[in-house]
Amino acid sequence: MLKKVWSYSSIVKAILFFSTFITSVSSAKEGMWLPSQLKQQEADMIAAGLQVPVDKIYNENGTGLNNAVVLFGRGCTGEVISSKGLVLTNHHCGYGSVQAQSTTLTDYFANGFWAQNNGEELPCPGLTVTFIRKMANVTGRVLYGMRDTLRGQVRDNIIAARIKYLEEKLSKASGMDATIKPYYDGNQYWVSYTETFKDIRLVGFPPNGIGYFGGDFENWAWPRHTGDFSMFRIYAGASNKPAAYAKGNKPYNAKTFFKINASGYKEGDFTMVYGFPGTTKEYISSYQLNDIYTISDPIRIAARTRKLEVWDKNMNANRDVFLKYTSKRAGVANGWKKWQGEVKGLKINDVTTKKESYERTFEQWAIANDSAYPYAKDLLANMQVNTIYADSALKTVEYINETVFGIELVQQGGFIGRLMACFRAGLSRDALRDTLQKVCATTHAFYKNYDVQTDKDVFKALMPMYFSACPHDVPAYYKAQYSDHNNDFGLWADDVYKVSLLGDEEKLKNFAANAVPADSSRLLADPAWQLYTGMQGIYKANTAVVTATNEQMSYLNRLYMKCRMQKDDFKPSYPDANLTLRVAYGRVKGLDPDGPAGYSYQTNIDDVMSVANPDVEVFRVPAKLKELYGPRDYGRWAVHGTVPVAFLADNHTSGGNSGSPVLNAKGELIGTNFDRPWEGTMSDLYFDPALCRNISLDIRYTLFIVEKFGGAGWLLNEMQIVKK
Ligand code: ARG
Ligand code: GLU
Repeated sequence: MLKKVWSYSSIVKAILFFSTFITSVSSAKEGMWLPSQLKQQEADMIAAGLQVPVDKIYNENGTGLNNAVVLFGRGCTGEVISSKGLVLTNHHCGYGSVQAQSTTLTDYFANGFWAQNNGEELPCPGLTVTFIRKMANVTGRVLYGMRDTLRGQVRDNIIAARIKYLEEKLSKASGMDATIKPYYDGNQYWVSYTETFKDIRLVGFPPNGIGYFGGDFENWAWPRHTGDFSMFRIYAGASNKPAAYAKGNKPYNAKTFFKINASGYKEGDFTMVYGFPGTTKEYISSYQLNDIYTISDPIRIAARTRKLEVWDKNMNANRDVFLKYTSKRAGVANGWKKWQGEVKGLKINDVTTKKESYERTFEQWAIANDSAYPYAKDLLANMQVNTIYADSALKTVEYINETVFGIELVQQGGFIGRLMACFRAGLSRDALRDTLQKVCATTHAFYKNYDVQTDKDVFKALMPMYFSACPHDVPAYYKAQYSDHNNDFGLWADDVYKVSLLGDEEKLKNFAANAVPADSSRLLADPAWQLYTGMQGIYKANTAVVTATNEQMSYLNRLYMKCRMQKDDFKPSYPDANLTLRVAYGRVKGLDPDGPAGYSYQTNIDDVMSVANPDVEVFRVPAKLKELYGPRDYGRWAVHGTVPVAFLADNHTSGGNSGSPVLNAKGELIGTNFDRPWEGTMSDLYFDPALCRNISLDIRYTLFIVEKFGGAGWLLNEMQIVKK
């Protein structure tokens, strides 16, 4: 082993690194602020570089920039970038909607999609966008007269009733939807007044060679070369209001939309991210953290590693399987990779120890404040008891979800229950067949994206994993089947998929079309149904333990938070993310400016070309992009002979912030948020300013791709693009 000697340069590096650490501590800002908290943050934001009053970002008169931010679908963010309701979001946020439209013929993933006029924009059934027009604190109206220690069903019922009453009342009075959600673990309640549009159409979608470039190799990673964007348009009905899809709907007339600033930014510049972070757990105890860190994350990572190996093998061998599994795969792999970064970051930061030492301080406070908060001193001990009690159940539930229920046929097995209900209805033969056929038709969406061979391979990979990880929780039916098949998972799987009706849509349809009442016994014997029902007992018993513990924990968390809100040095300054509108602010900032060149704060199109690789699908650059690259044909998007692609900043973001507008000091759009680097994904649990960054797509790359690559320059005419 080489003895480590500190060279001069490494000492300089260490000093530089340490000093960047210090500056980043003072510049990076942990926090996802409620828009209404910005007033209180205003001085700090101005000191950090904000050049407009926070009123411009959010106000209650309906003129704030919040009117240009939308919750996109169920878990992403989008921004309105023209008066004609044009919405910019991520490629991966539009992925599911595009998949629904994509066939081997059109294959928008390979070819991209660019509407050349409004008439060519494609309706996306089921896709919605939601505006948050206003928010208000209604804590007093939800919690009045309630003891802190009131808990359980009684408290839940009272709160649910009050929320329902208030939502109806506020919605009537405002003419908007009103949704009330808890904040600070149930110590505050806020209402969001919202408007949801339901006629959303696809406008532009780069091929995967741009929008998914680097695929999962680059996911959660920096440097980054993904053109992760897509464009949609909001359509409105009469008087510019939300309406169901109708051909005659008109593009939504947006009073507020983001101006685009195409003159760039430099390291250190102020930025904000405005969007809908989904879930963070910054304030949990060390005990809950340990559950995530030592049970949930590792189990999910291990199971998904196996599943992805199988999927990849099949997807690479067959384009049809690729198209079927690409969206599912992205979802499964996304968590898989994130949790690996999370575990790593928690370890580097030794977050458990930090939390433990905080907890000891809290307990001293609790003892000193016993008369005012008599419950405080036992909170942490109770949390510990609860987690210990539920650990083994949690492990089993995680394993079942990720392995046995991660086998699609087993999940689908539950469908037999619906068929059985038809048999039990005592219908005549013809009526029975007719009903069965209708019920079976509802599974079409599942089969459209299902490959039975791939799923069988997953069975062979994941079932053994469950048997060895949870030997005491293997149901009798499973044990019997396994031994009946010579203790061979392969033989067992072959049999299951051969016999089950559910492996093949045609087989199922045939069954429905020719069924007679006596066939119900065949259904009951179906191995998919047997596997599904056979696991229910163990699953439910363990889930019940986990759920009951979670209820206990949420009670304890609420009181823990309540206490922490009383004392300044414990006080959480912002509430955990809950998929409501938030603003994060920070600065454009590289991850390790002293490290390898790729770790600076920005990548460009030359970097894209340098990592391109024709032999690896996700690193294959579309021919058209190469044609533009050859002569450096970047038009007005050229910056020093290249085009910037992605950049880093230290805003505190989370899942759900995908597609969020990234703004400069004036509130103008400079990019679209789409990811975080691996080293910092633990920011959902612990924000380390030295490591946590958000990754954004530079708006100039977006515009370059739309105009020069997509040939959809007509879209740029609706935008307001400013320089300086
Ligand atoms: N990690 C990002 C997020 O959580 C991007 C996911 C999509 N991109 C990908 N390469 N899978 O959503
Ligand atoms: N890609 C994430 C999303 O879909 C956003 C990035 C993150 O989690 O930081 O919301």
